[in-house]
Amino acid sequence: MTVDLAGKIPNNVDLANNPRLLRALEQWQPAFIDWWKDMGPSESQTLDVYLRTAISVEPDGWAHYGHVRMPDYRWGIFLAPPEKDRVVPMGMHKGKPAWQEVPGEYRANLRRLIVTQGDTEPASVEQQRHLGQTCPSLYDLRNLFQVNVEEGRHLWAMVYLLHAYFGRDGREEGEALLERHSGDPDKPRILAAFNEKTPDWLSFFMFTFFTDRDGKYQLASLAESGFDPLSRSCRFMLTEEAHHMFVGENGIGRIIQRACEIMRQNRTDDVRAQGAIDLPTIQKYLNFHFSVSVDLFGQEISTNAANYFTEGLKGRFHEAKLADDHVLANDRYPIEALGENGIVRQEAPALTAINERLRDDYIADCQKGVERWNRIIANHGIDFRLKIPHRAFHRGIGAFAEIKATPDGQVIGEAEWTHRHGEWLPSAEDRTYVQSLMRPVTERGKMANWIAPPAKGINDQPVDFEYVRFG
Ligand SMILES: [Fe+2]
Ligand SMILES: [Fe+2]
Repeated sequence: MTVDLAGKIPNNVDLANNPRLLRALEQWQPAFIDWWKDMGPSESQTLDVYLRTAISVEPDGWAHYGHVRMPDYRWGIFLAPPEKDRVVPMGMHKGKPAWQEVPGEYRANLRRLIVTQGDTEPASVEQQRHLGQTCPSLYDLRNLFQVNVEEGRHLWAMVYLLHAYFGRDGREEGEALLERHSGDPDKPRILAAFNEKTPDWLSFFMFTFFTDRDGKYQLASLAESGFDPLSRSCRFMLTEEAHHMFVGENGIGRIIQRACEIMRQNRTDDVRAQGAIDLPTIQKYLNFHFSVSVDLFGQEISTNAANYFTEGLKGRFHEAKLADDHVLANDRYPIEALGENGIVRQEAPALTAINERLRDDYIADCQKGVERWNRIIANHGIDFRLKIPHRAFHRGIGAFAEIKATPDGQVIGEAEWTHRHGEWLPSAEDRTYVQSLMRPVTERGKMANWIAPPAKGINDQPVDFEYVRFG
C-alpha cells in the first residue's frame, strides 16, 4: 500500500497514475476549501492546532501529531488495505468475489448509500461551527477541531468513491454535498438529526457520543459491502470514528464528574447555584440526543434495508461473526411494535428487520457507555442513575413516531405529553441556562467551571499542553 503524501491530495489510491480522476478531484478541492472557510469552524483560519493527520493505513502509527494551521490540514484519501480474496459476505451473491467496480444493476442503490453517508460528514461540521468560540479549554478546542477535520476527510472519502466509480453523476453528487447545508430551509441535509442545532458543548458531547456512534454502526455495516472500495473506505473511517465517540464519552463523563464533586463538597443538589450542570439536565439532553439518533436507523420494517442486504451492498454489524447463513431468507427477528395496549414484542422477517437489528446493536453499545457514566456517579456515593430512554420515546421516524411515549416506554396521550414533556426534554429555560455557561476558556491548562479536567492529555502530552496556539 504505497501512500503518496507529497501530492496535492495525499492518498493511497494511486491518484498519480489516474490523471482523469486526479484532475476531477483537483477541481473539487477548491470548492471544498471554500466550503471549509464559509461553513467550517468559524474564526479558525489563523489558529495552530495540535492535530493528528492520517499518513498511512497501518493499524499502528497511521497518525502523525503536530501543530497545523487549520486551513492547511492535509485532507487525503485513504482506504484500508485490500483483504486478499475477499468475497461478498451476505445476500444472494454471498461467496462470489467482492466487486472492484460498481455492478450496473446496483448503481443507483450504491450511489444513494454513499451520498447519504457522505451528506452527514460535512453536516456535522456545519452544526458545530460556532462551538470554538465558547470552548471550555484548549484541550477541548483541539478535540473539537480534530473531529471537524476528520469529518471533512470522511467527506473526501465519499467524494472519492463518487468521482472514481460514478462518472458524471458522481461528480454532480460531489458538488451537491457542498451545496446542501445543515438547517438550510431550502437545501437542508438529508437526515433530520443533521439539521438540528449543536448550540452548546453539552449538546456537542452528546452528539459525538450518540450521533457519531450512529455513524460507527452505519460505517460498520457499509464496511461489509460487497462493493470493495466502499468497504475499504469505511474500514479506515472507523479507525477515526473511535476518537469522536471518545470525545463524547469523556466530555460527558467530565461534566458528570464536576456535578458530583459540587454535590459532595457543598452537600447540595443545587449544582446550578455553583455554575455547573446538574444531573437531571444531563438526563434531559441525553434523552433528546438518543431519540434523534435512533431515528437515523430508519423504519423498523424496511424493504430497502432488506434489498441492500440481499443485493450484498450493506451488511449487519460484524456480519462475518454472526452464526447464521447470511442470507436470512426464512429467518425471523424479534422487534418492538405497537400493539392494541401499548408496546409489544413480535417477530418479523429477519430481512426486513435489518434496520431494527442494527438499532439494537447500537442501543446495547450506548448502554455500556451510560453504565460507565453511572460508575462515576456511584463512585461519589450519589444515588442517581442516568438512563437511556425507551426507543419509543420522542421518535420522528418509524412506528413510534405516531404515538407519544414516556422515557419508560408507556404510551401516553397527546395531552399528557404536552403537560409533561418538559420533564424529559430540555426546556427553553434549560437551554438558556446551559448557554449561559458557555464562555471561552483559552488559558493553558484551565478548565471552565462546569467541567472537570481530563484524566490525561492527547498523545501523551500533559493536560496543560498548548493544544491550540492563537496566531
Ligand atoms: Fe464521520
Ligand atoms: Fe464522526
